[in-house]
Amino acid sequence: MAKTAELIIDGKSYKLPIVEGTENEVAIDISNLLEEAKVITLDFGYKNTGATKSAITFLDGDKGILRYRGYSIEDLAAKSSFLEVAYLLIFGELPSTEQQKKFTDDIKMHTMVHEDTRKILDGFPSSAHPMGVLASMFCAQTAFYPESLDPNRSSEAVYLSIVRSLAKMPTFAAWAYKNAVGHPVNYPDNTLDYCSRFLKMMYGLPAEQYDVDPVVADALDKLLILHADHEQNCSTSTVRIVGSSKASIYSSISAGINALWGPLHGGANQEVILMLEQIKNDGGDTEKWINKAKDKNSGFRLMGFGHRVYKNFDPRAKIIKKAADDVLNKLGVKDPVLDIALKLEEVALRDPYFIERKLYPNVDFYSGIIYRALGIPVEMFTVMFAMGRLPGWIAQWKELRENKEPIGRPRQIYTGQKLRPYVPIAKR
Ligand code: CMC
Repeated sequence: MAKTAELIIDGKSYKLPIVEGTENEVAIDISNLLEEAKVITLDFGYKNTGATKSAITFLDGDKGILRYRGYSIEDLAAKSSFLEVAYLLIFGELPSTEQQKKFTDDIKMHTMVHEDTRKILDGFPSSAHPMGVLASMFCAQTAFYPESLDPNRSSEAVYLSIVRSLAKMPTFAAWAYKNAVGHPVNYPDNTLDYCSRFLKMMYGLPAEQYDVDPVVADALDKLLILHADHEQNCSTSTVRIVGSSKASIYSSISAGINALWGPLHGGANQEVILMLEQIKNDGGDTEKWINKAKDKNSGFRLMGFGHRVYKNFDPRAKIIKKAADDVLNKLGVKDPVLDIALKLEEVALRDPYFIERKLYPNVDFYSGIIYRALGIPVEMFTVMFAMGRLPGWIAQWKELRENKEPIGRPRQIYTGQKLRPYVPIAKR
């Protein structure tokens, strides 16, 4: 018999269906509650609200589990490549050799962007943050590909817009950086793999030979895999909610980039490095900064610590911490902020404030250190996150579309003024 939950309001009982996921996650379906009982549920920050059923990513915050389409993040990070993971997330299965070749070739075919896009780029001052530039460039694709606005376009046309998004992301990301440093842009070199192509466009100068260090390209590929999806987080939910209005894939992704930009989400990786540098310049007294993070009046949080869903450890942080060690060793980089990070982690992990609140290092705590070792400038850190998250956003947008989900439209409890008469300005 189907399980139900019982809700009693003012003595009246309502039966609510129980929905179970494949990993035994349980939800109470309240979709008919407003109609039947004239009440809504209230949940600030959607901390306990399931907005959809999804077959893409499974996450168990208590056990520190993260899986894409059933494959563990540890396995994928160790054995797969970013574009293979992108295919897996978007199409549901790991690709065959043939499928992978076609997918990679299709992406290579679309790495160039319309030349007029450069005029848009030229309009930005060099003070523009690369995330703002990236979001604008994505949204501008609706102008170059107006057919993407048609909500009823064929699955072939959708495939093309997916491929275009993945193909152009490294070009836009590198160009956003070039704009920030005031250098001429580079065009994509399609003889290179995804990450190497991006690195060459970002660091190379048009008239000079630039050889990408494979250690750097491999490390970046791994980082992108770790960021590729994370179920219904702030930016992904944004992509889904914008997509639910049948807005184009480009504007949905653009909205996701804007949501990711904030310091409590993807922007944290940039904040972590700024914080570690601040602590270093202040003499490196980690206890002092831990105390500051515990003081609610200070307005300071330990960036890179805590997570909405991981309450034990963030599996991505474990992989990244090891990767940071490997990368620094391979590149022979000695970064004093790594020592500060390790000390900060050690102090925080034995402090009752952090233990009681289950605050552990998250994915962003060590990713910034790797990005720095790879020579990636700090204002590009969140762009790297966006590049990694793109397949996840696409997969979630596609799932929403295929499931024909309704437009996202939450409710509220109104707490403002009751009806009052309008008084003309002369009499006020
Ligand atoms: N430093 C100090 N105290 C903290 C921190 C922190 N980093 N994070 C949470 N707390 C405290 C918070 O003050 C609260 O204390 P109390 O119960 O006494 O009021 C308690 O822990 C619970 O915090 P919350 O803000 O209610 O938790 P949340 O689930 O709403 O927020 C978070 C999660 C990630 C926004 C938060 O932990 C945070 O601001 N961390 C720093 C920013 C950061 O590293 N963000 C990257 C997240 S990982 C990348 C991604 O997936 O987006």
